[in-house]
Amino acid sequence: MNSVRKAIIPAAGLGTRFLPATKAMPKEMLPILNKPTIQYIVEEAIQSGIEDIILVTGKNKRAIEDHFDISFELESTLLDKGKFDLLKEVKKTSNMVDIHYIRQKEPLGLGHAIWSARKFIGEEPFAVLLGDDIVQAPIPCLKQMIDLYSQYSSSIIGIQPVKDEDVSRYGIIDGNEISNRVYAVTDLIEKPSRDIAPSNLAIMGRYILTPSIFKVLAAQEPGAGGEIQLTDAISKLNKFERVYGYSFEGTRYDVGEISGFIKTTIDMALNNEGLRKEILEYITNIAKK
Ligand code: UTP
Repeated sequence: MNSVRKAIIPAAGLGTRFLPATKAMPKEMLPILNKPTIQYIVEEAIQSGIEDIILVTGKNKRAIEDHFDISFELESTLLDKGKFDLLKEVKKTSNMVDIHYIRQKEPLGLGHAIWSARKFIGEEPFAVLLGDDIVQAPIPCLKQMIDLYSQYSSSIIGIQPVKDEDVSRYGIIDGNEISNRVYAVTDLIEKPSRDIAPSNLAIMGRYILTPSIFKVLAAQEPGAGGEIQLTDAISKLNKFERVYGYSFEGTRYDVGEISGFIKTTIDMALNNEGLRKEILEYITNIAKK
């Protein structure tokens, strides 16, 4: 059995919910405090033992490549000014891990973005991490899933329960809990209306997939929103290979939409020693008005 060494981070979407901010800049570069969202995702992958990351980018994604690249000019300026802490931070991002880039020529959907990376993955299991979901957990979310993969050797989808009124915003699974937090998936539906949703267990942007998914994706027709949906392909995969859902431990932040992005920023500021007092005071004061 292969272990999970490679991860795909798709970042080729249009980010329409953040327009016009995302007109010339990818949404993955929008910062939460002082780090772009994609850096939180890359750090989770590294902390989970991933050795190679493939970033699927589209147009306007140069900023992502530059962010993880060496910036000689910036580094030498920081060195000259004696700003060693900042220099360390900046160097950290360029020394993180081996990141490879491929371009999704057209944003045809998440399923298509994953399929675009097939040659890089080859015949081994791999992880997918979406930038829309940041997870804060004592054991990194992806690590929890990789540990589970070593037990089940089958595709695993990260899930968490959501409120009934929110099911239509997510891919939803149907399944039977076979062990603590682990579900044998019987069906998956992308963005079902509330009355047909089989459960409130929502897919949360973390996957371990076997390479069989590529055969399915190669023939996958567009689904919800006219996009080639990864959820539809996993649903087909589940007909000939077991797929499990894992309700991971940790707090998941939805940074793919504006209100979630603001809440995440507030939470992270309140969890930050240097900012907590000032921000809490500010929020308490404006709440009184
Ligand atoms: P989303 O649907 O959340 O991203 O896709 P989006 O399309 O950029 O956002 P909105 O809805 O227009 O605001 C989930 C992830 O899949 C990637 C996105 O970059 C995001 O990380 N994605 C989506 C691709 O890489 N390619 C696609 O064709 C679609």
